[in-house]
Amino acid sequence: EKGNYAHYMQKEIFEQPIAVAQTLQSYVRPFEGEVALPTGDLDLATVGRVTIVACGTSFYAGMVAKYWIEQFARVPVDIDVASEFRYRQPVLEPGGLALFISQSGETADTLAALRHARSEQQRIAVVVNVPTSSMAREADLLLPTYAGPEIGVASTKAFTCQLAVLAALSANLARAKGRLSREEEQEIVQHLQEAPAALNAALGHDDDIASMAHLIAPARDVLYLGRGPDYPLALEGALKLKEISYIHAEGYAAGEMKHGPIALIDEAVPVIVLAPSGPLFEKTVSNMQEVRARGGKIVLISDAKGLEDAGEGCIATIEMPEVHPLIAPLVYAVPVQLLAYHVAVTKGTDVDQPRNLAKSVTVE
Ligand code: F6R
Repeated sequence: EKGNYAHYMQKEIFEQPIAVAQTLQSYVRPFEGEVALPTGDLDLATVGRVTIVACGTSFYAGMVAKYWIEQFARVPVDIDVASEFRYRQPVLEPGGLALFISQSGETADTLAALRHARSEQQRIAVVVNVPTSSMAREADLLLPTYAGPEIGVASTKAFTCQLAVLAALSANLARAKGRLSREEEQEIVQHLQEAPAALNAALGHDDDIASMAHLIAPARDVLYLGRGPDYPLALEGALKLKEISYIHAEGYAAGEMKHGPIALIDEAVPVIVLAPSGPLFEKTVSNMQEVRARGGKIVLISDAKGLEDAGEGCIATIEMPEVHPLIAPLVYAVPVQLLAYHVAVTKGTDVDQPRNLAKSVTVE
């Protein structure tokens, strides 16, 4: 079943171009240049607030969606991990849209949060990879990802497919709110359509990433930095590394470094910087220089332009294709997944079945 791959996780990482293309097929009409969600009776124009709830990697997909929904649709977004949301007595205006994101559709905390939101008169949208799951059955608006079964415990293709659906949802909401011109919608669709090829190009750097895994494998701690919609990718990169290689890793918003974590920097703590070219590039790079000035060892993930501007003095660089900032979070998922994967393989840990973890967390 793994074909030529050594692990399910590796296979699933490489399936992402096809999984994302398959998922997009249900949410965009490329020839019309339109996003098209099966919204049914749910009138997105009446949505005044979105509340996003999820756990783990799915939560990080939700964090990216917050940036997108607020940017495109100008609708305020609250986001919380399910285990906090369900017990913190959140204030929910009746008629709000509550959005639950889950690969399995069975995560106990997320399901309980969904039922709580229902009891508070929220309209329920779910993004799930298992269309027969409990969450799918309880949704008003079901937005499936078409990643296919994910076997590796560490989520990979489900995550990028969640992002694809959430980008389409953000654009659809923006259109419904009168915030998106025809041209802007066409551009978004065009950029989304470019994602599978860009994912493929990112996967083309697998060998480079494998050959630098030995730089990270001996570390006790690793930091990941990103900004804007790529900040959740820093969190996701750190989670992937923790889960499968058992190296302590943390993701930070790049601008937060100087408020504490920079105290950790020395030559034994590699710092992985996610910095695609775009409006936030200079800001992220200046945070990176602060780290370097304190002896930090940097791995810079950027495109050719970014690496040319800022790659000098890094212990390693990973080149990504140049992409529109909208799809950068999908594309930059690939190098952080591959890095975690190759570090785990270098360390000899169990990639598909990491210790203490289960694929579906159906207990609280
Ligand atoms: C990390 C991972 C977990 C899940 C989390 C939620 O690689 O897979 O963090 O994302 O347990 O699971 P789902 O998405 O099934 O609700």
